[in-house]
Amino acid sequence: MEITVTKAERLKRKPDPSKLGFGNLFTDHMFNMDYHPDQGWYSPRIEPYSPITMDPATMVLHYGQAVFEGLKAYRTPAGRVQLFRPRDNVRRMNRSCRALCIPELDEAFVLEALKRLVLMEKDWVPDAPGTSLYIRPTIIATDPFLGVRASHTYRFFIILSPVGAYYPEGFNPVKIWVTRDHVRAVRGGLGEAKTPANYAASLFAGEDAHRQGYTQVLWLDGVEQKYVEEVGSMNIFFVLDDELVTPQLNGSILPGITRASVLELARSWDMPASEQQISIDDVLKAHDDGRLQEVFGSGTAAVISPVGELHCGERSVVIGGGEVGPVAKKLFDTIMDIQYGRAEDPMGWIEPVI
Ligand code: COI
Repeated sequence: MEITVTKAERLKRKPDPSKLGFGNLFTDHMFNMDYHPDQGWYSPRIEPYSPITMDPATMVLHYGQAVFEGLKAYRTPAGRVQLFRPRDNVRRMNRSCRALCIPELDEAFVLEALKRLVLMEKDWVPDAPGTSLYIRPTIIATDPFLGVRASHTYRFFIILSPVGAYYPEGFNPVKIWVTRDHVRAVRGGLGEAKTPANYAASLFAGEDAHRQGYTQVLWLDGVEQKYVEEVGSMNIFFVLDDELVTPQLNGSILPGITRASVLELARSWDMPASEQQISIDDVLKAHDDGRLQEVFGSGTAAVISPVGELHCGERSVVIGGGEVGPVAKKLFDTIMDIQYGRAEDPMGWIEPVI
């Protein structure tokens, strides 16, 4: 399929790279493509960034049938632009599509479209430390219809946003509120799909945590509210007795690409790393026994986010003296160095754009 290109008549002013926030500015162009059962995915096009006009009955607005992805383009010291494991994002988007009854996309084509768009917007890839161009591929259900069923038509779009740090705390340890009152996802539900419903489900508890002075929520499993699942919108890791431990994927946990990278890197360093069911009680007991060395989240937006304090029920537990631990630091530095092209890429994770 040929991608048609319509250029914007006027280009926006580029922001000061040292003042970037997260997700509040967008580039000049976007990618669009549509789906109709008679045509499959059709009309791939790069167009000026613009609002999407839709019927108020459009299904995504009512029943949330949508999936999205998040990845980044990085500027290297030599001025090149590169992506980190984009094939994994595209593959995961198709897995999310299956969970949401959305027709899958040709993965090689999506990667090509994404690279074409980033190449066209290469001047938007910022160069200040810790900044990047966040890429948000999204698919929405577009039938104007109020019955509950899977839509017949869809829009796939990709938008780009120059970003700085996700959390105002940056790489400093955050305070986490463990909730037993709310769950993010249940087994057999949508937890492992990247779909808006999971983020909507996280809002109430997130607001609650903020009101109590905490940055994010630690999610326990939706069945027994006992086993650790995720932290905020990230996967979670513990360092216990010098071993890296993360909850095993069970259907309600997002299979994070940074999560996979952390596990692969640790194993390449001969650090024991396991995926297992781990209860919050075991975490607290390990702390009491002096075996809990570090806790951190992993995600595309923040990469590694150290946890300095866990509040659970009546208890507040300070992790590693509230300081960044050596494992979190080494993972953060190693992943960032690979992403920004400051180090070799022994894992083959980098996909150059230019
Ligand atoms: C990430 O950590 O990469 C996320 O999923 C956050 C994103 C929803 C803004």
